[in-house]
Amino acid sequence: MPFEIDRRVFIASLGGAAAVGLMDHEARADALEDYSIKKLDEAVARAQDRGQNAGSAQKFPTVAELEEQIDKRPYRRGAGNLFTAGRNANVRRLEPMPAKPTLLDFFRLRFQPANHVLQSATRAMKTGMTEEIILACLLHDVVQAMIKTDHGWWGAQLFEPYVPEKTSFAIRYHQALRFYPDEAAGYEYPDLYKNTFGVDYVPPPYIQETYKMVRKHKWYMEPRLVTVNDLYAFDPNAVVSIDPFVDIIGRHFKQPKEGLGHDNSPVAHMWRTLDHPDAPL
Ligand SMILES: [Fe+2]
Ligand SMILES: [Fe+2]
Repeated sequence: MPFEIDRRVFIASLGGAAAVGLMDHEARADALEDYSIKKLDEAVARAQDRGQNAGSAQKFPTVAELEEQIDKRPYRRGAGNLFTAGRNANVRRLEPMPAKPTLLDFFRLRFQPANHVLQSATRAMKTGMTEEIILACLLHDVVQAMIKTDHGWWGAQLFEPYVPEKTSFAIRYHQALRFYPDEAAGYEYPDLYKNTFGVDYVPPPYIQETYKMVRKHKWYMEPRLVTVNDLYAFDPNAVVSIDPFVDIIGRHFKQPKEGLGHDNSPVAHMWRTLDHPDAPL
């Protein structure tokens, strides 16, 4: 185990020794299991925070170990960040969106913290990527506010009516390419994924098929360059801002005059879902 249980802290978490005394053996065993899983989750989260540059000495979970945790938490791992605060916290109250929201409004009020995508786009800009790729880096993961499962496809769909075709292509397929190293392009399989998916994870057939298709596609390098810039810890102290990207957004993002969510596009409902995720139906 990568952590040890502190007996005093554990007993205190259950309400003290008197409360523990009233529990039967089975309840105590369950409580210890819950507590251990929580500690493990925290250790995994810390390891994920350290990102893909973490040392190779760390122990990665197996697929079976990760699956074991599915019915030990009150949310699913694919739930979007706006819809869950995780195990022990409540979600926060959201500031209302303006009547005609722009992409920048969504960044400010719904996609925060957007450090990861801002870092990726900053790196893409510094390394001289095309504006379509810089935009793809800026947008590639923000749909995770709504849903994480298959976020490449969801993200591309969310942006498709408003961005260049190369940008939505890059967003859609970066998800699959993340599982496949490309040394020549400077992309290694990340340690982060060994933590997130399990050290022995094999991508499902639809990801394998997608990779084969994209690998032969004339636009292969578009999503590949998103993965090359898809780093979590290249400069943890970098202060990032959306400001350097406002001009690129202006040139390449077709902001609807009615506001995102109100333009009757095929994806308007997705923007409305991000706008008011507290709606019960
Ligand atoms: Fe991603
Ligand atoms: Fe990413």
